[in-house]
Amino acid sequence: MNDTGTQPKLLLGEELVSPLHPVYDGLTADVPVREAVMPSGYRVWMVSRYDEARAVLSDPTVLKDMHRAGELYKQHTGRERPIIGGALTQHMLNFDPPDHTRLRTLVNKAFTARMVERFRPTIEQLTDELLDGLAGRERIDLVWDYAFPLPISVICELLGVPREDRPLFRTWAEQQAELLGPEAAEAVTDGMTAYLRGLIGHKREHPADDLLTALIQARDNEDRLNETELVGMAYLLLKAGFETTVNLIGSGVLRLLSHPDQLAALRADPELLPGAVEELLRYEGPAVMSMLRFTTEPITVGDVPIGAGEFILVSLRAANRDPAQYPDPERFDIKRNPTGHYGFGHGIHYCVGAPVGRLEAQIAIGRLLDRFPDLALAADPEELVWMDATLLRGLLGLPVSLGRPVRTPLTKGENPR
Ligand code: HEM
Repeated sequence: MNDTGTQPKLLLGEELVSPLHPVYDGLTADVPVREAVMPSGYRVWMVSRYDEARAVLSDPTVLKDMHRAGELYKQHTGRERPIIGGALTQHMLNFDPPDHTRLRTLVNKAFTARMVERFRPTIEQLTDELLDGLAGRERIDLVWDYAFPLPISVICELLGVPREDRPLFRTWAEQQAELLGPEAAEAVTDGMTAYLRGLIGHKREHPADDLLTALIQARDNEDRLNETELVGMAYLLLKAGFETTVNLIGSGVLRLLSHPDQLAALRADPELLPGAVEELLRYEGPAVMSMLRFTTEPITVGDVPIGAGEFILVSLRAANRDPAQYPDPERFDIKRNPTGHYGFGHGIHYCVGAPVGRLEAQIAIGRLLDRFPDLALAADPEELVWMDATLLRGLLGLPVSLGRPVRTPLTKGENPR
């Protein structure tokens, strides 16, 4: 049955920012894909069921190339697609094969699971330093005082940004989080481009044990990343590795604090932590939609035909709540073991940084609960403010009371949860 003709188009705007996200939740029940209108006025098809999401995200005819997407945008709207960032937009999240395959192969050589695991003690230390700074305060804003600074420190450390330069990144990240107008945003990206070029030059002269040096040195036979690609890759890792993780930690803590039974189960058995983070990625993942894609040939999604030259968004959040895949999907259950969730996407653009994002969330949430056994919400959940963004979901603030901290650092075998 193709009943999209009878479905009203979704108008994507204000309602996307609602804490309940009524647009996504419940989408799966009726049709596998619906026409929607983006806040800036152009038409997209929004895919919302689990199986169809998988099919679209792995369809080699559904592409992302930003130049072709720009031409299509012009055809749809009669306007140029606003693009901010110059060299910073030249990265693999905006490319298709073969360019994507080439860049991904090179980054995979530098960014290995072993490198991430070696990095665990550093993430733990950065987390403990932040928690030490919070001890003694009764009330904090968990997003700005904890979830925000931690991923910046982690990604800067991973890439090899000197400690003294980290405040620069915090300022840039804060400015970007403020959803700047085009001119101010261009100024931020110019500053970042100049800085990254300088840092790459420095690492060429002084190679170190960090990801940026590994990217400079990465070779695939004769192939290597050129200067523009290195800048684009460093920027992508900083940006993608930062804004998602902030929101996973912030929304994740809120979700746990608002489900006292789940929080108590986690405190009673810390082994549940990795599974809890997977359930948070399914239930409250920060990437609510895939990035924009477009069809290059006619395709059928479920039983709905879509022509060539149409924009597609996959609602990762709706697909993660498809009852055919996850029974009783609105139940938040840290013992669910939601294998195959789309919190990190699917297909060739599956998140490169998934092992870091997972590890960081586990350490950040685990150590916070360890340190503050009486951690509690200090605001009415209904009054919390969420980001005004279409693809990402996250809190703009989360007041919590810390209560009495436990003695630190914890020694092995000692667990106050
Ligand atoms: C909890 C944290 C994270 C979440 C929820 C997340 C989510 C995602 C998603 C959904 C995509 C695919 C987007 C699409 O296909 O349209 C993606 C791609 C990507 N992510 Fe993450 N991410 C996280 C952390 C990180 C970290 C820590 C890094 C880097 C250190 C990172 C780097 C990337 C990169 C480079 C891509 C592009 C991959 C490609 O185009 O092949 N992410 N991420």
